[in-house]
Amino acid sequence: MLKEINEQPKSVRETIGSRIVPNSKTVFPDLNLTKEYLSSINKVFIVACGTAMHAGLSGKTLIESLCEIPVEVEAASEFRYRNPIINEKTLCIFVTQSGETADTIAALKLAKSKGAKTLAISNVVGSSITREADFTVYTHAGPEIAVASTKAYTSQITLLAILAIHFAEILDKNLEKCEELKNDILLLPNQVEETLKTAEQIKNFAQKVYKEKDMFFIGRGADYTVALEGSLKLKEISYIHSEAYPSGELKHGPIALIENGVTVISVLTNRLLVEKSISNIQEVITRGAKTFIVTNQELNHEFDEVIKIPKTNSVIAPILSIIPLQLLAYYISKEKGLDVDKPRNLAKSVTVE
Ligand code: M6R
Repeated sequence: MLKEINEQPKSVRETIGSRIVPNSKTVFPDLNLTKEYLSSINKVFIVACGTAMHAGLSGKTLIESLCEIPVEVEAASEFRYRNPIINEKTLCIFVTQSGETADTIAALKLAKSKGAKTLAISNVVGSSITREADFTVYTHAGPEIAVASTKAYTSQITLLAILAIHFAEILDKNLEKCEELKNDILLLPNQVEETLKTAEQIKNFAQKVYKEKDMFFIGRGADYTVALEGSLKLKEISYIHSEAYPSGELKHGPIALIENGVTVISVLTNRLLVEKSISNIQEVITRGAKTFIVTNQELNHEFDEVIKIPKTNSVIAPILSIIPLQLLAYYISKEKGLDVDKPRNLAKSVTVE
């Protein structure tokens, strides 16, 4: 897992590949979606499981903000059994590292039978899902072996970002925003490298908290989607119970669980939401929580641990802000003496129901 975490500068770089070339339109040689088709779409579904679904949540923000088409993200295991409203005006995107996840493949078959176009995002060339989908685009993360998915997630978001730009360019929408985002994406591999330098600081923090029983992850907007993924990583490999909540939801229930010494992990990367989130963090500090903050903002407050990461556009910030949380889960698991790469009860690909 650590090897794969450290490979992310390369996996993100490879996923960008030659899809973004400065001063020209994004290129996807295997995708021939026309302006006429994309203009007819009134709904996009992004369907996936686990970490891939969390990447899909970033895809929603990206496609909605650049293409102005509503996007729904759903767990494949739910989607396949609930008769979703789909027709030829729906584009269904299926995200799967392995391309072998049974629920995701079944969901794709259902969408296809209802007349939707299906687009698979996979990391494995020739995997089962790629044989079923109308179109496939590949992340180029390289083989991911550890059960806990890390580099696949950051590559999936990178690819979803480039795809969203591609659709917007075809649709002639938000072209200026697309140009800015392309430049920001090209900076990511070096920024991922920079973010990985926080490892030692995170290892030290892990040594202080590895015996805890519960942890909480909070954030707003894109930061909340990273909280979900950080919480999943921690559960999977450290067996610590954790919950992720939108920061603003704390007061609607979960704050009852905050007591002296509980660790609350917050992600703060959106300038427009930072003050709101800080006031939520103050509330947990008042109740005795320990605070671990991942941020790219200048903060004038006292927290127990602040992990500084590079600044980028908030829609792609999860590619950087997840890295400290991957490292935190890894070092906690190591401290506990667990088998990081083969956590109990889990398989790398869930090929049966
Ligand atoms: O191969 P897939 O991307 O379809 O796998 C989906 C999930 O099973 C997977 O992301 C799982 O949640 C990971 N163990 C998360 O680390």
